[in-house]
Amino acid sequence: MLITFEGIEGSGKTTQIELLSDYLARKGYGVVKTREPGGTRFGEALREVLLRPGLDVDPLSELLVVMAMRAQHVEEVILPALQDGKVVLCDRFVDATYAYQGYGRKIDLGVIETLNRLVTKGIRPNLTILMNVTAERGLKRKAAASAIDRIEAEDMSFHQRVKKGYEKLAKEDPKRFFVVDGSLKVEAIHEIVRTKVGNILKSYGV
Ligand code: TMP
Repeated sequence: MLITFEGIEGSGKTTQIELLSDYLARKGYGVVKTREPGGTRFGEALREVLLRPGLDVDPLSELLVVMAMRAQHVEEVILPALQDGKVVLCDRFVDATYAYQGYGRKIDLGVIETLNRLVTKGIRPNLTILMNVTAERGLKRKAAASAIDRIEAEDMSFHQRVKKGYEKLAKEDPKRFFVVDGSLKVEAIHEIVRTKVGNILKSYGV
């Protein structure tokens, strides 16, 4: 079972993954919590370069780095965990590339799809939770919490395109996507998320 969390910067998805992971572990599920960019030693090293402020990065280079990291992540972490019957909770996955490099950087979505198919070996999330907040609110939350990285430092129109991109992806695949209002209180969101995940696990007989 692969459950991914997506959303723009500062949408609160990382907090929700922590809460869901603890909840599922308490219920006795084998949980693997991971993230992109990152998730492996190689991927975490690439993440540092990808997000380093001040670097001038060509969009296609950025796309290929993200895909290199994903290939390693799928092979080293996600596939083995799924084969082991674990519930994998991943902070960003394939959809982030459509949203950021596709809608944000305007790279052809077909190219992204081809590369995603190659590096994921056909793995698709069973459920994708999209945390929906406005770009202004997300960036404000992020800026208050930590130093701004290279992608967060993009202008507001970039973040608006990413947000619209996510909304489009969710509309195109309503069976897989579950959109949550990220402006609600943390505990309220957790309750909504854990009810949804509980139902999905039940429907898969897990
Ligand atoms: P995070 O702060 O949620 O961990 O995400 C780090 C950044 O990586 C975020 O700005 C989005 C970006 N990213 C992409 O641009 N493309 C991708 O495919 C992924 C997974 C992340």
